[in-house]
Amino acid sequence: MNKPFDSLPTADGLWTGLRDTAGIATAIVVAQGAIRWIGERAALPAEFASLPPHDGCGALVTPGLVDCHTHLVYGGQRANEFAMRLAGATYEEVAKAGGGIVSSVRATREASEDELFDSASARLQSLLAEGVCAIEIKSGYGLSLEHERKQLRVARRLGEAHGVTVRTTFLGAHALPPEYAGRSSDYIDRVCNEMLPALAREGLVDAVDVFCERIAFSLEETERVFKAAKALNIPVKLHAEQLSDMGGAALAARYGALSCDHIEHLSQEGIAAMREAGTVAVLLPGAYYTLRDTKLPPIEALRAAGVPMAVSTDHNPGTSPALSLLLMANMACTLFRLTVPEAVDGITRHAARALGLQDIHGELAVGRPANFVLWNLRDAAELAYWFGQRPVRAVVRQGRIAEG
Ligand code: NIG
Ligand code: FE
Repeated sequence: MNKPFDSLPTADGLWTGLRDTAGIATAIVVAQGAIRWIGERAALPAEFASLPPHDGCGALVTPGLVDCHTHLVYGGQRANEFAMRLAGATYEEVAKAGGGIVSSVRATREASEDELFDSASARLQSLLAEGVCAIEIKSGYGLSLEHERKQLRVARRLGEAHGVTVRTTFLGAHALPPEYAGRSSDYIDRVCNEMLPALAREGLVDAVDVFCERIAFSLEETERVFKAAKALNIPVKLHAEQLSDMGGAALAARYGALSCDHIEHLSQEGIAAMREAGTVAVLLPGAYYTLRDTKLPPIEALRAAGVPMAVSTDHNPGTSPALSLLLMANMACTLFRLTVPEAVDGITRHAARALGLQDIHGELAVGRPANFVLWNLRDAAELAYWFGQRPVRAVVRQGRIAEG
């Protein structure tokens, strides 16, 4: 790790030399780590004019980025499966051959908490350097109380150490652990009656997720997990309709899900249910690309229904070893045909909504913690245009100058 977060310089003061995404000269006043004033430079109230100055030198300013779907904490890596898939194996075939999620479970169980912290820290730094100010981190590579706890504790520690908002998601129902082979229903009992209540009591669970899929858990098992979450008042989200249409999105919407994620095979009925419930559609072009998927998510129908669309890395060692949210925005445009403003909303305000963080993250407004990014770009459209470069000039994260 670089410097401890609380030793970084404060962002308090008057930020000028900024342009917003509409090209308007903008000023931001930061006081005690929060946005005290934001608006057109010319309208700055005199009382703020003599605050300590920060010169943005003409940078474009946006809200801090939000990565709303990651599996950032795990042991090992799975480059061997990449090779297998290149040689023609499908994701399902790799999983059935003992690879896939379960191979990361082995490596995660073997790793100590500190080892997991160190490897995830390095990955997190890449995302942070690109302007991420809030991130979701799922469990799901432990698949026992002890090892799910270890993953979620690491996620919490990452947030504290790096001064980034972390939302933890319990994904105990990610895959069937080998010791439960043939006893899926018993494992779901364990998830609902033992793991989730214990981890929730320890304050480690901000949301609950399930992988609802032929190679993972059924609709009925998914609903059992949702019921257990509901009894504890914890919001739900779902890995839904990635490989097939299981009807998961409509179920999740009935439970008021924050988001349904992947959704390549989402039906019109699922879209209508999501619209009704205010559920965010999370698009994961990194997984689509890595799996060489050809089934596009129903973007036009989501757009027509007014379902908010977020974009995320889905960082994980199997299907999306991606550590650039800007690249995902680019792919969402090129592969899924999002417009550039949709992609930018997808990695800011809609992503914040997918985490229930819409009052704190994803938009620049008075009273919010100071989380914003200064870019060496002229035009907001460039955010989704370049790939493979880091156009960040500076990042203000939780009221401190974290980069630049
Ligand atoms: O979001 N779909 C299930 N979970 C992950 C993949 C996890 C893995 O292969 O390790 C995903 O794509
Ligand atoms: Fe995922």
